[in-house]
Parts: sequence; structure tokens; C-alpha cells
Amino acid sequence: MTLFICSNCGSGSASWYGRCPDCGAWNTLTERKDLTNNDTKEEVKKINIVPLKKISLIKNKNRLKTKIYEFDRVLGDGIVPGEVILLSGEPGIGKSTLLLQSISHFKPLYISGEESSEQVKNRAERLKINLDNFFFSEDLQVEGIVAGINEMIEKPDIIIIDSIQTIYSKDINSPPGTVSQIKETTAKLINLSKKTHIPTIIVGHITKEGDIAGPKTLEHMVDCVLLFEGEKSSNYRILRSAKNRFGGTDEIGIFEMKGYGLQEVNNPLVFIEENNKNNAPGKAIVGVVEGKRPLFFEIQTLAVPTVLSIPRRIVKGVDYNKVLLLLAVIRKHLQIPLDKYDIYVNVIGGVDIKSTSADLGIIVSLVSSVKNIIIPSNNIYIGEVGLLGEIRKVFFEDKVIKEAKRLGFAKIISPQNLKNIKDLKLIS
Ligand code: TYD
Ligand code: MG
Repeated sequence: MTLFICSNCGSGSASWYGRCPDCGAWNTLTERKDLTNNDTKEEVKKINIVPLKKISLIKNKNRLKTKIYEFDRVLGDGIVPGEVILLSGEPGIGKSTLLLQSISHFKPLYISGEESSEQVKNRAERLKINLDNFFFSEDLQVEGIVAGINEMIEKPDIIIIDSIQTIYSKDINSPPGTVSQIKETTAKLINLSKKTHIPTIIVGHITKEGDIAGPKTLEHMVDCVLLFEGEKSSNYRILRSAKNRFGGTDEIGIFEMKGYGLQEVNNPLVFIEENNKNNAPGKAIVGVVEGKRPLFFEIQTLAVPTVLSIPRRIVKGVDYNKVLLLLAVIRKHLQIPLDKYDIYVNVIGGVDIKSTSADLGIIVSLVSSVKNIIIPSNNIYIGEVGLLGEIRKVFFEDKVIKEAKRLGFAKIISPQNLKNIKDLKLIS
């Protein structure tokens, strides 16, 4: 029996198609001998069983610290020997910059298919990074990378692959960046890391749409997935962990892109500070906990009479479906007709809020815009809103309230003093 394999996504089918039934790519199916039907069957290998209590724990002292506190925290207090980390984000967001800055005191091997040695060196000099212990390669065949590292007498502390879309395996018959290539190359790099105990950070580009065919397919293979987010037009960046086998996934790191590289940000007001004196209808400040730290964001909503038969809803920075749900809650419980308005919702700073604690603030900003009421900028809104209009407690609520008080917000509206959006006096 023959098998037709798609060179783009690696999926197989029994007959040839002009278009891959799985990924939709055209003319990518090529004939291959069915590997399951060959005679060289593998012998039974008895499994090796060990008592788990005899396995030594990963000691924190063995973790490599990047010495960038925000980065180390997201990693779960540093990098574990042999760990493979996928750092993904949009092109130009600052992944290479973050990596160069965080490995500056290691003995790294930087493999770059994105930039030449001159470009990397230029940037490192601009970032004032000491290059004495830096190794660099522009060679991109994964088998060669593995062989080269195995042969190094003085091994590097860490391997950086920038980016996985440029690396290829000689065993795969498709161009770099295709799913089958990035899966194969990643598998080989993981194997290398696990054998040598040298950690690897793999950079993966993703597009705004999430590009499922790209690095997302690697998420189950690696130990840790970090997302570097932000708007290129804004200077702020958030580092989140979406998966971490050696730490929690509830920490975030905040950075600001400056002329001399990324700088860590500790100020919880960083996303609202600049214009918090300018007040207009539609603006509300929310207090949320992202990771374990309280942060404050400005939500802006613009509701304008629509000329369309189906009004427009444009949402940036919060979940689109969540906004639709909150619109329904407003219609039902505050009896405000919203069908006549186009509604635009945005979070200032180009960041995404994942916490449900912003629900109440989104509602307040929506109603504020529809009713043309200005919300004082020293009001702060904290709370999840349920379908019944009830304001629900959120994780670490006390922590946000305490921080809001410390920062001098005059009026803190939270589940402690507001039980249902019907009681929202200020604006109804
Ligand atoms: P980069 O790290 O190359 O992004 P990525 O690797 O994610 O593609 O960052 C690129 C942007 O960062 C570039 O547009 C310039 C900007 N930048 C600064 O603003 N300051 C700096 O010190 C550096 C090194 C870059
Ligand atoms: Mg880069």
C-alpha cells in the first residue's frame, strides 16, 4: 500500500488529492512507501519501572537565572537544565531583544536564521552586552546543529534558536517553516536538550490571527510556552506563560521597549498613567490581577448611532464574546437598547486583559458612553459580572482593593459594595 503525505502539514491519506484535506494546501501530497507495512518490525521492549520517590527533585539552585526578574518569575524562578522553551510572538515585538538581554551573562550558542552575525553583533553592542562568551551560528540544518553541539568540547549553557521557522531537517522534503519541518526540527532539538541537559529557547513567530499552522503545533512538545504580547505602536510588552511544566502559568512580566532595549516595569499604573487626567464619556478604570500582581487598565468604549442594519461591534484587548455577553446583560438588566449603536471597545496600551475582573468596568464604560456620562478618573471598578447581572468575587480581590487604596483611588466599586449591576447608581 502506498501513502500520500502532505509536505506542508505532514498528514497522510490513502489516495492522492490536489488539495490536502487537512490543511488545505494545494499540490503538496507526495507518494511515499507506507512505513507501517515494512518487514523490519520493532521487537518488544520491556518497560523499565522505577519507584518515583527515588527520583531526585529538580533543585531550584540548579535553575539558570536570566537575572531579568520579570522573565525569571514567568519561567518559575529560572530555567531548568534540559528545559525547552518556546517563545512566541509577532515579528518585531522584541523577542530577539529580550533573549539577547537575558542570556548576556551565560555562555550561549545563538543560532540565527533571521539575522546575520553582523546584525546580531550590532544589536548586542547597542544593548551593551558583553560578547566574550557568545557563540554564534548561521547554519540552519538541524542535523548539523545537533552534530555540532555534540562535538563541542566546552558546551554552551543555553541554546537559542531564532527562529524555528528558518531551521530545516534534511529528512523532510518540504521548505522550512512548514508544519512538518517545524515539528521534526523541534523534536530533534528537544532530544538534544534532554540528552545534554542544555536548555533551549526556540523562537516562533505568530501572526495576529494566531496562525494555527505555525508554532502552535509545537505547544504540546515543549516544556514551556511563553507569549510575548503587545502592540508595536505601543512601548509596553507583556510576557505570559501559556504552559509551564516547571512552574505556574499565572505569572506575567511587563516590559517597556526603550532605545537601549527592554526595561522591566514594576509600576501597576503603567497602562493608565499618561492620560488619566483626560476625562470623557466611555472611559473606565479597572483593577485586575494578571498573574499574581494587581494592575490597572483603562477601558474605552465608543457607542455611536449606527447606520447599518446589523450594528457593528469591534473589540480590542478583551474577549469579543465576553463583550457580546456583557451587552446582553446590559440590555436585559439595565434595559438600555443597544441595537441602535455601533460599539467599539478598546484597552489602552495594546495589551490583552484575560482576567474576568474587568467585566464590571467594561459595562460601566459602555453605559457611560451610551448615556454620555463622565466617570471620575479616581473611580475604580473590580468584579466579574454574571448573566443574572450579579457582581461576583474575583481571585485576589482583596489584593487589588488594597493596592487601589494604596495608590489613592477615591472610590473602589467591587463585589464588597455592589451586588448587582442594577444597583449601579452612578450611571443608571
Ligand atoms: P526584535 O527583538 O528584533 O523583535 P523580534 O525578534 O520579536 O522580531 O525587536 C524589534 C523592534 O524593537 C524593532 O522594531 C526596534 C525595536 N527596538 C527598540 O525600540 N529598542 C532597542 O533597543 C532594540 C534592540 C530594538
Ligand atoms: Mg527576531
